[in-house]
This record gives sequence, C-alpha cells and structure tokens, in this order.
Amino acid sequence: MTDDQSLSQIPSADPFALFDEWYAEARLREPNDSNAMALATATPGGAPSVRMVLLKGHGPDLGTGGGGGFTFYTNAHSRKGQEIRANAEAALLFHWKSLRRQIRIEGGLREVAPEVADAYFHSRSRDSQLGAVASDQSRPLDSRTIFLERYEAARARFAGGEVERPAHWTGFTLCPRAFEFWLDRPNRLHDRRRFERRTDGPGWTDMLLYP
Ligand SMILES: Cc1cc2nc3c(=O)[nH]c(=O)nc-3n(C[C@H](O)[C@H](O)[C@H](O)COP(=O)(O)O)c2cc1C
Repeated sequence: MTDDQSLSQIPSADPFALFDEWYAEARLREPNDSNAMALATATPGGAPSVRMVLLKGHGPDLGTGGGGGFTFYTNAHSRKGQEIRANAEAALLFHWKSLRRQIRIEGGLREVAPEVADAYFHSRSRDSQLGAVASDQSRPLDSRTIFLERYEAARARFAGGEVERPAHWTGFTLCPRAFEFWLDRPNRLHDRRRFERRTDGPGWTDMLLYP
C-alpha cells in the first residue's frame, strides 16, 4: 500500500492479508518491537485492564476451527491470565508510530495446545526460560533479591538438563471477530475501515467509519 493510498481503495476483503501487508512494513520501519501489541482484558464484571505483550504467531489458519488467530505467551497465574480464565473475551491493539497506523482486533481467546507452548518455550533462550520459571508474574515481590535468588535456584534445579516449562506458562490465541484499520491522513481526515466476520458463512463484511 502506498503512502497516498486510502483504505477505501484497497480491494482486499481479507483482513489477515491487509494485516500482513502492514505488519511487513512495520517490521522494516518500526525501530523497536514491531510485534508489540496492547492486550486488553476485563473481569466478568467489566473492569478493564491493558498491558503490552509480544505477538509470537498469527495467520488465517491458526486457532480452533481454522478461524485464524493471533498468539502471545504469558503466565496464566498473572492478572491477565486470571481475567482470561474468567472472561475469555479480549482486544488487541497495534500502534506503529513510525507508520502512523493502528490496527484493532477483537475476539475470543483459546489456550494453545501444550505441545505448542512447549515448542515456543524451548525456542527461547535458556535464560529466558529460567526467568519464566522464576517469575510469579503479577504477584507482590518483597525484594528484587528474592527474585534473583529464585532465578539462581531455577538454574541450579535444571543444571545440565532441559528447563521444564511450568504448566502455567502458556500461550493464548485470539480468534478475531473484528479488525479495524486506521490510517493517518492530512487535516485529521483519517481513514478507518472495519471488518466483521460473517455469522452466516465464511468471509468478512467491511465498512468505512468516520474517523
Ligand atoms: C514491549 C513489551 C512487551 C511485553 N511482552 C510480554 C509478553 O509477551 N508476555 C507477558 O507476559 N508480558 C509481556 N510484557 C509485560 C506485560 O506488559 C505486563 O507487565 C505483564 O505481563 C504483567 O501483566 P498483568 O499483571 O496484567 O498480567 C511486555 C511488556 C512490554 C513493555
């Protein structure tokens, strides 16, 4: 997509393809963490929370039923993990400042299969694996020294062998029901296009939105 092209000129009716096009540009032009995305979750009562996570897999064939998905990894005992267990609805947000573009994605979450989590866990550096074992993510920590001691204890425990993935360190895949693409335009006449998954069959409907 060229810089002077508007979202209404894109023939693609496939939001995964448009995501890929923008993501490829972000990987070239965004200096840090082009795979960083905000993940919003909420309690069953509707109190929201949001934090950054890293996108570690995506595509139209991921997720259950081949509906496509976006995968991140985390500690399921964390605040986000507890909210996801109680309410599996979430939203993702990519904002690539250098591109002046935003993508919003909404849908339900499913935990990845244990073998998928194992494969990703063991693809990380050994130190990162030990860090995941040592961290009681989102729980109160009395001092940083305690955390570093836990890290050393994990190193000693797995010395010479494979680091075992804690069962609570896992991945979740968001299966999109909606995408929304936002493009900066002059005079704040920004461009928005929303895609919603059809409920009466495969494919997507889409519309432009006022900015
Ligand atoms: C750029 C960036 C990427 C991050 N990626 C992850 C990630 O992939 N998984 C994760 O659990 N936390 C990640 N974090 C830390 C989270 O933002 C957050 O602090 C942590 O997961 C605890 O969130 P919670 O208490 O809401 O569960 C990242 C933070 C930043 C700034």
